[in-house]
Amino acid sequence: ALRGSFALKARKANRGSRYGLQLVASYKVAILGAAGGIGQPLALLIKMSPLVSALNLYDIANVKGVAADLSHCNTPSQVLDFTGASELGDCLKGANVVVIPAGVPRKPGMTRDDLFNINANIVMTLVEAVADNCPDAFIHIISNPVNSTVPIAAEVLKQKGVYNPKKLFGVTTLDVVRANTFVAQKKNLKLIDVDVPVIGGHAGITILPLLSKTKPTVSFTDEEVEQLTVRIQNAGTEVVEAKAGAGSATLSMAYAAARFVESSLRALDGDGDVYECSFVQSDLTNLPFFASRIKLGRNGVEALIPSDLIGLSEYEDKTLEALKPELKASIKKGIAFVQKQP
Ligand code: NAD
Ligand code: LMR
Repeated sequence: ALRGSFALKARKANRGSRYGLQLVASYKVAILGAAGGIGQPLALLIKMSPLVSALNLYDIANVKGVAADLSHCNTPSQVLDFTGASELGDCLKGANVVVIPAGVPRKPGMTRDDLFNINANIVMTLVEAVADNCPDAFIHIISNPVNSTVPIAAEVLKQKGVYNPKKLFGVTTLDVVRANTFVAQKKNLKLIDVDVPVIGGHAGITILPLLSKTKPTVSFTDEEVEQLTVRIQNAGTEVVEAKAGAGSATLSMAYAAARFVESSLRALDGDGDVYECSFVQSDLTNLPFFASRIKLGRNGVEALIPSDLIGLSEYEDKTLEALKPELKASIKKGIAFVQKQP
């Protein structure tokens, strides 16, 4: 669906611009960490979106060449590059959506939490700049550990007096993309039809695919549920091990992040039928942040979808209870990190 909608809209936009027509809307997207493994293919996918008129690429190094390269694609958006802290403010001014994949990725043997010490600081500094320059933007946090970096971002925004919980998102789209792919493969379903909500958080056992809520309705044996759940929870590690020290998922992540950006832009543009899973401030459980399906609208999270949590299977109920202590601790760690700053 993503590929189809990009291609169709890009064709229309191209025709439109040739005749000087404005056929599609115009939004500014900023990517922070744009020269990285995720940043580069994500920038390419966003460059293909006809909903985007300005694509601002920021990194601490190597972003000039990425922007020069991308700027030759004959799609509507103007690509600009920004390097280093002195140019960060200009990158962010006027942005509607800010995507943050800045930070270090895992190597084999590491957990996402092992990235905390480096990435917590990076996310804190970048979100401070977002608060100062585009406090009204949708903020998409990709940098790991997402279970802590989203609470970090929330705390920074609160301290700056601009926190809007409806506009801060932990990007968990890759978990849904993986769940859809693995279920379709296992059950011989057409990929385009499959939709599995994934709730909880974005690390190991905190990732809980709700296979009982798969659309279209599918039945799984207990063994299949166990095997699929564990594969989805460990899919990030599967890639980290296959890359053997060269990083973690970048291409599938860029694909997933581009889908989440496109959904956000459609929502901003008034589409009333946009649903995604995301790790957001939530009252669906006793945890302050929780990933679930959400309805997106012009102002961000329009509604959480509580029905997914009703009528869970016994396995899902048990797994949900089991993930709460770890997720709670990761959230607490993120909040404490910001509160401890001098
Ligand atoms: P990478 O090392 O290839 O790229 C990271 C980029 O961030 C680099 O270009 C680097 O220069 C830049 N950077 C570092 N510090 C910065 C700063 N202060 N300001 C701006 N940019 C800065 O890593 P990657 O593979 O692109 O992964 C990035 C992050 O995304 C990692 O933390 C990884 O764990 C996470 N990730 C999350 C998901 C998810 O599902 N949410 C999936 C995959 C990866
Ligand atoms: C993923 O799920 O692929 C990312 O969170 C990266 C990782 O470290 O596994």
